[in-house]
Amino acid sequence: MRRIAILFCGFAVMLAGCQAKKPEASETPNTGNTSGVPAAETRKYVIGMSQCNRGEPWRVQMDTDIADAAKAHPELTVLFKDAQNKAEMQQSHVREFVQQKVDLIIISPKEARPLTRPVAEAMDAGIPVIVLDRKVEGDKYTCFIGADNVKIGREAGKYLVELLGGKGDIVELKGLMTSTPGQERHNGFMEGIAGSQIKVVFDADCQWLEPNAQREMKSALSRFPKIDAVYGHNDPSAHGAYLAARQEGKGREKTIKFIGIDALPHEGVRYVKDGVLTATFQYPTGGKEAIETALKILKGEKVDKAITLGTRIFTADTVEAGGKEL
Ligand code: FRU
Repeated sequence: MRRIAILFCGFAVMLAGCQAKKPEASETPNTGNTSGVPAAETRKYVIGMSQCNRGEPWRVQMDTDIADAAKAHPELTVLFKDAQNKAEMQQSHVREFVQQKVDLIIISPKEARPLTRPVAEAMDAGIPVIVLDRKVEGDKYTCFIGADNVKIGREAGKYLVELLGGKGDIVELKGLMTSTPGQERHNGFMEGIAGSQIKVVFDADCQWLEPNAQREMKSALSRFPKIDAVYGHNDPSAHGAYLAARQEGKGREKTIKFIGIDALPHEGVRYVKDGVLTATFQYPTGGKEAIETALKILKGEKVDKAITLGTRIFTADTVEAGGKEL
């Protein structure tokens, strides 16, 4: 009965984001099998998942991937918290998980700097931390899981060089530049276009948000009569740019090439199928890998400090076949 109550509460938290207390320590032993303590297979574990926001489809997908992977392991309860894109709220969430004495924390931090200390505090309290997708500063965490954003940026740059025949004027709509994927997707891109005659004539920090990208693109369109392509750091940005071009009413959405990153099936991949984006690069959420890695850590196995996920490119030619590995 008690077990059902715990599971139910965990599920309710997944759905409603309410704040569940960790079950009593006696119900979730995480030390050796001394008398009265269940064997390893029957132990229960509570994982705190700190998501920086659930306002973007990609993050909803990450939480779903985590919840789905955890479902196969009845010994796991995952408590989800949504920081609503506020770094201070996310700091509090990590500290709450530490106070609750969860067994492990997974965090996808909004920004590197403000989340570095709370993660270090969790580690000091003996709670392992998996950092997912966006990084923190330094190396005080258990494991980082994510795709290689420098590589994705570089591939995007190389792709545009080829697409535009080595020269052209482009707009770069950046992600939040205090988050590591924004910095790395920019740096990689600059490497990818190095030596070509591609010029970034306009760039803006759109903080990963489609409405910001749409607004910035509107001003880029009014300032630059010739734009050959848009590099959006994510698919919502590339899509926002496309909408701005269409709204301008001069048909420029047909001449400008739009490329983005994420490749969710119902977002970027759909846009490629519809001819809105020329290409999108997959950015896997890592949710499944986070649960697999959490289980290893909880069972005392050693894990790599960094787990790098792959990427794929989706274009009109490859989209039906599920993209092409890079
Ligand atoms: C969602 C998102 C994705 C992007 C990732 C980078 O919040 O903006 O679109 O790929 O975060 O961390």
